[in-house]
Amino acid sequence: MPIRKAAVIGAGVMGSGIAAQIANGGMPVLLLDIVPEGVADRDVLARGALDRLAKAEPAAFMSRDAMRLVTPGNLEDHLDRLGEVDWIVEAVVENLEVKRRLYQKLEGARKAGSVVSSNTSTLPLARLTEGQPEKFRRDFLITHFFNPPRYMRLLELVAGPKTRVEAVERIANFADRALGKTVVRCKDTPGFIANRIGCFWMQAAFGHAFETGLPVEEADAVMGRPLGIPKTGVFGLADLVGIDLLPHVAASLRAALPADDPFHEVDGDWPLIGKLIETGYTGRKGKGGFYRLDRSGGTRIKQAIDLATGEYHKAGKPRLDAIDAAKDGGPRALLESEEPAARYAWQVMSRTLAYACSLVPEIADDIAAIDQAMRLGYNFRWGPFELLDRIGPAWFKERLEAEGVEIPPLLRAVGDRTFYRVEDGRLQHLTLAGGYADVVRPEGVLLLEDVKRREKPLARNGSASLWDIGDRVACLEFHSKMNAIDPEILELIEKAIGIVAKDFKALVVYNEGSNFSVGANIGLALFAANVGVWPMVEDLVARGQKVYRKLKYSTFPVVAAPSGMALGGGCEICLNADAIQAHAETYVGLVETGVGVVPAWTGCAELLTRWMRHEKRPGGPMPAISKVFETIGLAKVAKSAHEAKEMLILREDDRITMSRDRLLADAKARALDLAKDYRPPERSEISLPGPSAKAALDMAVDALRLSGKATPHDQVVAGRLAVVLSGGATDVTETLGDDDLLKLEREAFMSLVRHPATLARIEHMLETGKPLRN
Ligand code: NAI
Repeated sequence: MPIRKAAVIGAGVMGSGIAAQIANGGMPVLLLDIVPEGVADRDVLARGALDRLAKAEPAAFMSRDAMRLVTPGNLEDHLDRLGEVDWIVEAVVENLEVKRRLYQKLEGARKAGSVVSSNTSTLPLARLTEGQPEKFRRDFLITHFFNPPRYMRLLELVAGPKTRVEAVERIANFADRALGKTVVRCKDTPGFIANRIGCFWMQAAFGHAFETGLPVEEADAVMGRPLGIPKTGVFGLADLVGIDLLPHVAASLRAALPADDPFHEVDGDWPLIGKLIETGYTGRKGKGGFYRLDRSGGTRIKQAIDLATGEYHKAGKPRLDAIDAAKDGGPRALLESEEPAARYAWQVMSRTLAYACSLVPEIADDIAAIDQAMRLGYNFRWGPFELLDRIGPAWFKERLEAEGVEIPPLLRAVGDRTFYRVEDGRLQHLTLAGGYADVVRPEGVLLLEDVKRREKPLARNGSASLWDIGDRVACLEFHSKMNAIDPEILELIEKAIGIVAKDFKALVVYNEGSNFSVGANIGLALFAANVGVWPMVEDLVARGQKVYRKLKYSTFPVVAAPSGMALGGGCEICLNADAIQAHAETYVGLVETGVGVVPAWTGCAELLTRWMRHEKRPGGPMPAISKVFETIGLAKVAKSAHEAKEMLILREDDRITMSRDRLLADAKARALDLAKDYRPPERSEISLPGPSAKAALDMAVDALRLSGKATPHDQVVAGRLAVVLSGGATDVTETLGDDDLLKLEREAFMSLVRHPATLARIEHMLETGKPLRN
């Protein structure tokens, strides 16, 4: 039975976020909550939640269409509507009795064969289903989402002994394909995987910091990047998720875990944390937390708390040798250092990693599930076993032994080997029996990471590679810093065009970096400016145009498959593909004006042509020109692939993949589909109004300048953009070919890139990562 409609009960933080993600997946969803006493609007809780969702930052909805798919309601008047839904997600308060009573209510209303799942973070399935009828138990499981549900990719799934296999598979499949979650199967144990280990790690980190008096800035500096942990470290993370949430998870683990569980050794209840919560210092959502921003002097100064006194001081920027050592020597170099902060890192991480070793198979069948849960649930770069492989399991065991710590059997089993290995190009993990088994990907998942383990590249240089991904489809991968487009990438694209035309059916442009591409390497422009080699810049602009157009008019189909940021030159690559298969979490846009130039690798020409030909465009070229002028002039970035459709960066027939892991397979399938009867696109011509349109655009910018919304240099840049988009010295009786538009792009770019205010913008962007508003 497919899932056609869903309901979420409980419109709090999680319930409303889960409802939004179900809607993002294109599915209608009811959002129900209780009726508070004495209110006129009986749907007030769900409706209020929807209002908050609409304003959430980062956005909870991927599009306005998705927003319309959520119907608010209440549990008294709309219970019968549950008879229409195939999946009910319960996300009410973490209280066993409340949840159990609700389940009884649901039993009378839901349709036969529908699935009910709980989003509980700590309550075991066995307890939730105690005393419930057999019919309910067969249809019940736990689906544990992470906050915020749109952005956190992990979904922990727990089935009970009675749960129907078909129900589990149906939900797992739906969560994977329609909601884009990576489903990790967990055992029915307290805190499942990620919070069991994550909460241990945080409690250990708090405890040791309070005990040793290490400054929080130092604790976070070592407990962050050097160990593959987000730079918030542990105290910064607590501020981010909300300090008030932590004691709940800890208390529930405290109550649920057996007395001999090592959790109790690191567990604690520190008075300062209680005091912070009581006084509203719950973290970033409150008045501050372990860190706060002092705005008193008119500036924003970051302050850190002193764990001993609770007083704040200006946050320090620790310079630690151990961190420098880790830059070359990896995490082990940090853990070997004798610096106090490094000793602290060892104390916390050694306990946490040993704990993780001791939890297999109690919480999961294999180590790969644990690593995946920690990567996706806590954003760790390496899960515990992947980190241990970097540190050296044998070295780790020896050091634990020297400290008299009990060695978990799994750590004995690994001996002087590693937890993972590559055998015949396949990634394998250590099993409990001491052998190795393949890391199994879900059906239909194709990862470039796996291709790269077994293949040699067809072509490669320092910034990009070309891979054979099977069925005569090739994949062009960027791997420059931040995947910025540079001459080496252009060179490899040209090479790839030759190789694919000869031996392959189609090309997919895809990579597994966190961002598809942040755009052209603007450092090169600055370098060229500093030494005054303008012809080099001009050459690079022309070369980019030529290569991008070669890609567009090649004899085979090209599918771009972006995920994360696809900005500037990265966006322009997508615009030159025959089709885009985008990950839903794609943030794409032409942002060049932010650094004081205009898109000049075909971006202006391509977007303008699309809007000019858009069927919904009202009469005359001006509305299309204005739309593109606004989009490029304001450096607008789509906040999802769905939004990119509204901007025409994605076309009507371009497709969206919710699951990151399925993106490459979907792009490849699309490419093969296009290859069946492929013909390159025809060259386009358009007519533009010329100076009259430029005058109209200039007037609009004048108004913005007068009202203070545009800066002086914004006006200069917009003026040049207006020349390009109005067609230069032309009028509607003439037609402009692609070459004419590209020439206008080049001229505008070259005049702007020499401008000192543009160079200041570029320099600022390179230094701070933010646009300069000069
Ligand atoms: P919340 O406090 O934001 O929302 C709970 C909602 O349940 C409220 O809208 C409330 O009106 C409703 N509710 C209370 N009693 C009810 C009843 N008898 N029938 C129906 N609705 C009722 O809570 P939050 O944070 O959204 O948590 C919900 C569930 O998700 C809990 O089981 C929690 O453990 C779990 N969870 C929470 C996470 C988080 O980060 N907040 C993360 C993962 C899971």
